[in-house]
Amino acid sequence: MDLTLDTPLDMHLHLRQGEMLDLVAPFSAAQFAGGAVMPNLVQPVDSLERVRAYRAAIAAACGTAAFVPYMTLFFRDYDRRELAEAKDEIIGVKLYPAGITTQSEAGVRDFDRIGATVALLEELDIPLLVHGETGGFVMEREQEFLAVYRWLAETFPRLRLVMEHITTAAAIDFLERFDRVAATVTLHHLLITLDDVAGGLLRPDLFCKPIAKTPRDRDALRRAVLSGHPRLMFGSDSAPHPRHKKECLGCAAGVFSAPVALPALAELFVEAGCPEHLPAFVSANARRFYRIEPPAGTVCLEPVAWLVPERYGEVTPFLAGKTIGWRVKAAHSARF
Ligand code: NCD
Ligand code: ZN
Repeated sequence: MDLTLDTPLDMHLHLRQGEMLDLVAPFSAAQFAGGAVMPNLVQPVDSLERVRAYRAAIAAACGTAAFVPYMTLFFRDYDRRELAEAKDEIIGVKLYPAGITTQSEAGVRDFDRIGATVALLEELDIPLLVHGETGGFVMEREQEFLAVYRWLAETFPRLRLVMEHITTAAAIDFLERFDRVAATVTLHHLLITLDDVAGGLLRPDLFCKPIAKTPRDRDALRRAVLSGHPRLMFGSDSAPHPRHKKECLGCAAGVFSAPVALPALAELFVEAGCPEHLPAFVSANARRFYRIEPPAGTVCLEPVAWLVPERYGEVTPFLAGKTIGWRVKAAHSARF
């Protein structure tokens, strides 16, 4: 039986610029009604002018596909006027600790100094999206960062806070204790552990930030997502890098999952026996938390197996060479 999804959304997406944008955007536009676009370009998206220019470039790359780019601003010190002006054109402000991941050098160096801008976000009701990792031991970074999340949640009780791409059982426990906080979960963190990345021959295509964790962590994520947790939203964190940046000394972090996102999620939820929880994870939870209503439309998936190509252009996709039991139906709706 087919699976029909209303307005699926990808709430954490890297679309890049230039040729890479042209290559990758159509994959998201073919599956999703919209997505939260990350601002970590070479020149960060840190002004309304840059938001507008980037949105126009994304629209051009999507062609005729109806895909809503929900734009984000790169966190820096903003004043009230800047944020008030940007509010209606962004879905949130994305905070990166400086240097923690790809193109985050302009991020936050001193968390003692972010309070004034965060207070404005709370006051203006603009969500704060956070890459939650410290500079500590790589397997403990997310857990260590929970202290910052706790400070944010307690100091700014009305702030809409999103823990991006959570990977640990500890983050799931945290979410249970702070009921205004939401989180995104990627596809790859639901499927792989550190063993897949580095337990055998090293797999640069699976290397990303945050690094995949232990089986116990993955199982905690799966349990929470598959049980239909109301504050967990799908965010692919699809982050393409050309092969020469992955298969080299100093492999760039990022998994390119956009081409396989919805089919692999359908397979996961169906195999777990709970396809009824997929619509909340890929759409309803995000629509409620962000208070967005994408233009109506559905995407239909059918249980037809396909082989994931080894490459799309210069990029190796997640699950390359594997067979997925579901695919997006070619002619599936009035709008896509
Ligand atoms: C992302 C990228 O390449 O932009 N990389 C990644 O490993 N996830 C940045 C990020 O979200 O950390
Ligand atoms: Zn990301």
